[in-house]
Amino acid sequence: MRNRWTTALLVMGLGSVAWAAGIKISPSQTTPAKAASTTRPVVSARQTVSVQEQAWGTADDGKPVKIFIISGHQLTVRITTFGARIVSVETPDRKGKMADVVLGYDNLEQYERSTNTYFGAIVGRYGNRIAKGTFSIDGRTYHIPLNNNGNALHGGPEGFSTKVWTGRAIPDGVEMTLVSPDGDMGFPGMLTVHVRYSVEGHSLRIFYSATTTKPTVVNLTNHSYFNLNGDGRGNILNEVLMIPADRYTPVDATQIPTGELATVKGTPFDFRKPTAIGARIGENNAQLKVGGGYDQNFVLNGEPGSLHLAAKVYDPQSGRTLMVMTTQPGVQFYSGNFLDGTQHGKYGVTYEKYSGFCLETQHFPDSPNEPKFPSTLLRPGEKMRSETVFVFGVMR
Ligand code: BGC
Repeated sequence: MRNRWTTALLVMGLGSVAWAAGIKISPSQTTPAKAASTTRPVVSARQTVSVQEQAWGTADDGKPVKIFIISGHQLTVRITTFGARIVSVETPDRKGKMADVVLGYDNLEQYERSTNTYFGAIVGRYGNRIAKGTFSIDGRTYHIPLNNNGNALHGGPEGFSTKVWTGRAIPDGVEMTLVSPDGDMGFPGMLTVHVRYSVEGHSLRIFYSATTTKPTVVNLTNHSYFNLNGDGRGNILNEVLMIPADRYTPVDATQIPTGELATVKGTPFDFRKPTAIGARIGENNAQLKVGGGYDQNFVLNGEPGSLHLAAKVYDPQSGRTLMVMTTQPGVQFYSGNFLDGTQHGKYGVTYEKYSGFCLETQHFPDSPNEPKFPSTLLRPGEKMRSETVFVFGVMR
């Protein structure tokens, strides 16, 4: 397996391996495609991607919720306006059998009741943790309601994952928009956020942008849990992961970064060579114990601001592969440690610990309190832009 993997990595480096076909990583992709003005379904002239829109119930706040079905060649993605969430991603295995490679629920109500899994959601305004929910900008201190061990996680208890976004079909995908009012969850400034999901070949591309009316902090990511075996069956411990990161950000007992950029060398966090997720997860390591498995931010070796590799995953059982590219400086690798059998997911599957993994491309946790970390500050007149691409494939 190792030789084939290594060979495939080499070939992928040349950009021509079959499963990577369709990926375009030119900087021009950071310019959003022109919006569609036609009625649904929108079918792109450039490629055979169709976008359909359906009603998906009514949220607790009385807002109607929609679901969009984006169908490309051997890649079908469903996205709901509740939390701008990816609900399903269907891809073929090495025999061509389609299955869903993300965890999630059957219906809106289950998503609304599940407050701490963030399945498929866009998390914000601040993805991951802010220590004690407190930070200062220009000498003024702000407080976010706490929802995780004395800290604010994923934007606080009513973060972006709990909001009904506005969705509209665009060529090859959907654009989700959220206007977060000044003071929402304690964050300053009215923040206008657009998240564009689009299908291109074997890729699902996510383009984020945000503007503010007052200085604020922003860290947006997608919180999909992947299980490449399909339909959430089994666990992800045999899936083989590679993360091109020489360093990671160790955390304290409440999962707040200590500020150190520690080397991965000689630790279970060294994924520079492809390694099974389960190979070292049980090691006697203080960092692994804090989160009950992997739950760390990796400092990506690539150049922030331009698309670079964040991770590659290979599932030996199904042959499915996932490659993650991003413009972000970090990726949170989370191995689904807090799934505990109380989540009754799609296809009648109950999610146990390690049923799925997240690769949340992001700025580092608690950056507003760590001046040495890349800044998450956004000022009026500026535009936050970032991009992440999930490339799905198979290795035969
Ligand atoms: C965090 C975990 C948290 C999970 C929530 C991840 O982004 O790093 O600590 O438990 O989200 O499901």
